[in-house]
Amino acid sequence: MAKAEIGLIGLGVMGSNLALNIAEKGHRIAVFNRTTARTHEFAAEAGPLRDMVVPCDTIEDLVAAIEAPRPIIIMTMAGKPVDEQIAALRPVLAANDIIIDAGNANFRDTMRRFSELDGSGLTFIGMGVSGGEEGARHGPSIMVGGTEASWKRIESVLVDISAKYKGEPCAAWLGPNGAGHFVKTIHNGIEYADMQMIAEIYGILRDGLGFSAAECSEIFNTWNKGRLESYLIEISGIVLGATDPISGKPMVDMIVDKAGQKGTGKWSAIEAQNMGVPATGIEAAVAARSLSSFKAQRETAETILGLPAAGQIKSLDRGQLIADLELALLAGKIGAYAQGFAVLAEASKEFGWNLPMPTIARIWRAGCIIRSQFLDDITSAFRAAPDAANLVITPAFAALVKETDGALRRTVSVAALNGLAVPALASALGYFDSYRRGRGTANLIQAQRDFFGAHGFDRVDGLDKHHGPWGSGLAEFS
Ligand code: 6PG
Repeated sequence: MAKAEIGLIGLGVMGSNLALNIAEKGHRIAVFNRTTARTHEFAAEAGPLRDMVVPCDTIEDLVAAIEAPRPIIIMTMAGKPVDEQIAALRPVLAANDIIIDAGNANFRDTMRRFSELDGSGLTFIGMGVSGGEEGARHGPSIMVGGTEASWKRIESVLVDISAKYKGEPCAAWLGPNGAGHFVKTIHNGIEYADMQMIAEIYGILRDGLGFSAAECSEIFNTWNKGRLESYLIEISGIVLGATDPISGKPMVDMIVDKAGQKGTGKWSAIEAQNMGVPATGIEAAVAARSLSSFKAQRETAETILGLPAAGQIKSLDRGQLIADLELALLAGKIGAYAQGFAVLAEASKEFGWNLPMPTIARIWRAGCIIRSQFLDDITSAFRAAPDAANLVITPAFAALVKETDGALRRTVSVAALNGLAVPALASALGYFDSYRRGRGTANLIQAQRDFFGAHGFDRVDGLDKHHGPWGSGLAEFS
């Protein structure tokens, strides 16, 4: 039998689908799973693609089945399992073989793995893959970190299996070492913010306007035909319209309001904080998921504090309010994406990655969870101004902010007046209002810091006097 072109370890949901995608695109693939039964089950499931799949019972068999130099994808849970697989592979691989970690790794682990493999003769790639099960099977968005030479060696396979946006592949080399996994992490942070803002709008519709799940579904379905067109709006419309086969009630009404999280959103917020870049939309979304898990406390608090009256919202013009909600969501998205890209820009400097912003926006246009029409606009904005300090001051997005921020302002106000929590949308408004104001209020904070800690400040007139006429600073004025 001809040797396989590539190997894959880890036949869970993502690994199986990715392997089938690779096989379907004409690349023979050798597969291995920790439990041998799963390997054979997978081979049987491959159906017409069975001939393109080489099931292997041991790591040694896997290595022997692949044409050297061997690219091997590890698609296991992030963290320790990846280190274990690398340790198992190292003794059996030969110089120039490539280990590709395609899980949701923390980029700091990826950087560590790069340095651990440095000098081993093996090549390492940290690869972000987005699109869930469906994306892995039919075309994910692929974010590659490693040397450009290693990308070149696997480019044809990755381009073949990736999603296409109007014929352009959604796979690219983004920079060395941790770049691919960092970009995937920020993708997920933006995904969190996007999902949270959609949920906040749903909260206004459900708890403010008293809309049923079906009515909410219709609104999202309509929005998906307009400027909000995106995968997340599309699936929101679908899930809100689904009926629970057991109770006959809307499915969403039967789901406990506690959101899970596996860590990538939190990592995005932490890294943004580490670099001193505001990512308030991502932070708000992570915090909202955490607060959602305090279900029992929230129920107790509701009985003690009660809910603010949400009467006023009912007297508003519904058509106008719904039009505002649509634009508010667009404005909120601008804030979250602007912040996400600002984090990427800072990381690019800090880690010397030289991240290509237009390429990142380009490969997020299809295949990934945050895919949308909107990302095509971001791609164009960055192509026109690749070094823009912030998305919101590119000409196209500045115009969009001016067009939509009134609706965001009214939406956040209405929500606040009616006791409806909109932390991510409010964070976007706060971000715009802080970012656009040339003279903010940090002068007072500097004065306070100087008062209690003699921290010093810069003067607007540039004079070399750095303390106020209080406490020990009096010396400067004597
Ligand atoms: C994707 C997704 C996928 C997954 C994450 C986030 O891009 O395909 O981001 O990677 O959704 O694991 O999941 P949590 O919501 O569980 O943190």
